[in-house]
Amino acid sequence: MSSQPKPRILLTRDEIEAAVKRLAAEIKKDYYGKQPILICVLKGSFMFMADLIRLLDFPLEVDFIRLSSYGRGRESSGKIKVVQGLRSEVKGRDVLVIEDIVDTGLTISFLLGYLRKKKPASLKLCALTDKPSRRRTPVTIDYLGFTVPNKFLVGYGLDLDEEFRNLPDICVVE
Ligand code: IMP
Ligand code: MG
Repeated sequence: MSSQPKPRILLTRDEIEAAVKRLAAEIKKDYYGKQPILICVLKGSFMFMADLIRLLDFPLEVDFIRLSSYGRGRESSGKIKVVQGLRSEVKGRDVLVIEDIVDTGLTISFLLGYLRKKKPASLKLCALTDKPSRRRTPVTIDYLGFTVPNKFLVGYGLDLDEEFRNLPDICVVE
């Protein structure tokens, strides 16, 4: 049984669906005909990625990367490393990173730096949520779903100690 408090809904599945549709329309406008690589940052972004790409009706590729930043609990360790790497050749490609949440920004800054060294033709970031109040390093989000308050979020892929990823809404745990 879970020892975590009961989450309450912050963003409903309908609100998420509408945001994903809006983002897909923006991405389609910019990437149609470019055959981009969409890189899903595991694990939290898997649901967002799966919903988003179903709305992108043009040729694209997907890849996955897993980074470790958080230990257990709610705080980023700040020490980031790649624990599961890409399979794709990124050099010369249009790369779009798909992230669940930008919090301190340390994880995504690390990843964007890591990818930039591989010399993609272009590199942009799509994030479902942004928690700007916690930022420790500047991050440009090219496609953003929601700005969220300084609360710990779970659901729609996001976890607290691996729990709650399967919730269909984005919820707050106090
Ligand atoms: P950052 O390095 O602090 O920006 O954290 C980035 C990663 O931490 C995100 O990709 C999430 O996986 C995780 N994270 C940050 N905030 C939350 C949250 O509120 N709920 C669940 N995971 C979070
Ligand atoms: Mg993440």
